[in-house]
Amino acid sequence: MRDHFKCPNCAQPLERLSDQPQTFRCSNNHSFDIAREGYLNLLLAQHKRSRNPGDSDEMIRSRQRFLEAGYYRPLSEAVVAAVADSAKGFDQTVLDLGCGEGHYLQQLREASAELGLIGMDISKFAVRLAAKRKLNARLAVDSVFSIPLFDNSVDTAVSVFSPISVEETARVLKPGGKLIMVGPGEEHLSGLTALIYEHTVPHRGNYEGLDAANQLSLLQQVEIKQSITVSGCDILDLLKMTPYYWHSRPEQQQLLAQLDKLETPIHFYLKLYQNQSS
Ligand SMILES: C[S@@+](CC[C@H](N)C(=O)[O-])C[C@H]1O[C@@H](n2cnc3c(N)ncnc32)[C@H](O)[C@@H]1O
Ligand SMILES: [Zn+2]
Repeated sequence: MRDHFKCPNCAQPLERLSDQPQTFRCSNNHSFDIAREGYLNLLLAQHKRSRNPGDSDEMIRSRQRFLEAGYYRPLSEAVVAAVADSAKGFDQTVLDLGCGEGHYLQQLREASAELGLIGMDISKFAVRLAAKRKLNARLAVDSVFSIPLFDNSVDTAVSVFSPISVEETARVLKPGGKLIMVGPGEEHLSGLTALIYEHTVPHRGNYEGLDAANQLSLLQQVEIKQSITVSGCDILDLLKMTPYYWHSRPEQQQLLAQLDKLETPIHFYLKLYQNQSS
C-alpha cells in the first residue's frame, strides 16, 4: 500500500487495472486515467481555486530553460548530496514537493537509477514537462496541502522554493525521515531585483512555519552563495520564472531584454529537517 497513490475522493489505494493499464481505480470505483505523457491528475475540481492553479506554462518553460543552462548547478549538486548523505544512500523513496518541470528529479535520477522517485506539483503544465523527461518517476498533479500518499511512506522529501505543509509532510515521512528544504538567502537575485524595485525587501522564504512547528526538527543548514553572470535571453527567462515578473513594468522588461549580461548573486539556504513522529 505504501507504493500507491491515495484516491482523492475516499483515501483508498489507487491500483492500476490489469485489463486497462492506462487507468488507476480505487475499491470504490473512482477512476483516474494516466495522461498521455505518463502522470496522474489527482487534483479534484472542487479543490481548485482557479482553472489552472500553480505556475503558468510560460513561467515553467522559462524556468526549464534557465535551469538547463546550469546557473543553479551548485544548488542541484547540494540537493543530490543531501539525499545521498542519508543513511540509506540511494536505496530510498524521495518525494519532490512542488517539483515544477522536474529539474531536481532529473538530477536525482542521473545520480542513481535505484532511487524511488515521486514528484507532485499543482501545475499541470509543470507535471506534464516533468513527465516528458521519462525519469521512471511517479508523478501527480495535486497540492502539497493534501499529499496523495499514505502515512509513513517516504524516506526523504525535497522542497525547492515551493509552498509546504508541515503537517502533511510529517505525515507522509517515515519516522526519522528527512526533509530537504531550499529557500532564498537574503541576497538571492539582488542584481535582478535592484533593476525592478526602488527598495528591495529580501525574500522571507518558507521556513518560519517549519521552525515554529515541532514535528520536524532542524538538523543542519547549508548556505550556498555565488555570483553568476546571466547572459542574453536567459535574463528574461530568469525574470519570467520569478514572481518579480508580475511586479515589473513593461519598460523594465524591455530594458532587461536588451541587456547582454546581468551579474547577480545567487544565495540559498538548504535546511535539513528530521521527522520527529514515531
Ligand atoms: C518557484 S516554483 C519551484 C519549482 C521547482 N521546485 C524548482 O525549483 O524548479 C514553485 C512551484 O510550486 C508549485 N505550487 C504552488 N502551489 C502549490 C501547491 N499548493 N501544491 C503543489 N505545488 C504548488 C508551482 O506550480 C511551482 O511549480
Ligand atoms: Zn476512491
